Amino acid sequence: MDRLRTECVLLDPLAREDFAWLFALYADAEVMRYIGRGPRTEEESRRNLDWLLAHGERLPFGYWVLREHATGERVGGAVLMIRREGAPVELGFMLARPAWGRGLATQVACALVAHAFADLTLPELQAFTDVENGASAAVLRKAGMRDTGLHPGPYGGLDRRFELTREEWLSSRTTGRGAR
Ligand SMILES: CC(C)(COP(=O)(O)OP(=O)(O)OC[C@H]1O[C@@H](n2cnc3c(N)ncnc32)[C@H](O)[C@@H]1OP(=O)(O)O)[C@@H](O)C(=O)NCCC(=O)NCCS
Repeated sequence: MDRLRTECVLLDPLAREDFAWLFALYADAEVMRYIGRGPRTEEESRRNLDWLLAHGERLPFGYWVLREHATGERVGGAVLMIRREGAPVELGFMLARPAWGRGLATQVACALVAHAFADLTLPELQAFTDVENGASAAVLRKAGMRDTGLHPGPYGGLDRRFELTREEWLSSRTTGRGAR
């Protein structure tokens, strides 16, 4: 996995030293309000992070820990992952509360969309958001992803599913539409 950067954020491949900080993030009820079954125990988070670490060793993408350049502090995490064999690559992100509302998630989503299509040459991406998660949907739209309406999501309920193909991304770059 490559280390990536945006104007304000460094994206570092997940390492075991990040686990303790991520346990706290995954245990925050506000952060987890729209994700899965909500806040996670340390054991649930460890299982998920072990899986993501192995994912990034097997494939050239997985989970990145987000740090702000200005302070070097961790501010969140983001992912490109294949949840189960044969599924399209899924984009996701979450920020610690103090980092919300400053455009950081939009920077990260745009960087991962560009990495997925320009560097990894993936054919398509998808992302799911809870129907109530307006901020997440706004970030995905600004990253150029297409809202396809409500579909069964990864956690059993109906979620808003966003999609983008490499062809769409390439043509949005030549026409100036889509991801900024
Ligand atoms: C969702 C999340 C990643 C957004 O991060 P962020 O850095 O605050 O996002 P940005 O500042 O880049 O952009 C947020 C956009 O959503 C808009 N927005 C915020 N709340 C909104 C709402 N309730 N409805 C619609 N739009 C909303 C903002 O106005 C902003 O758009 P703008 O720049 O055009 O004004 C962050 O709130 C978070 O980590 N939440 C908890 C985890 C989570 O839900 N992750 C997504 C799982 S799918």
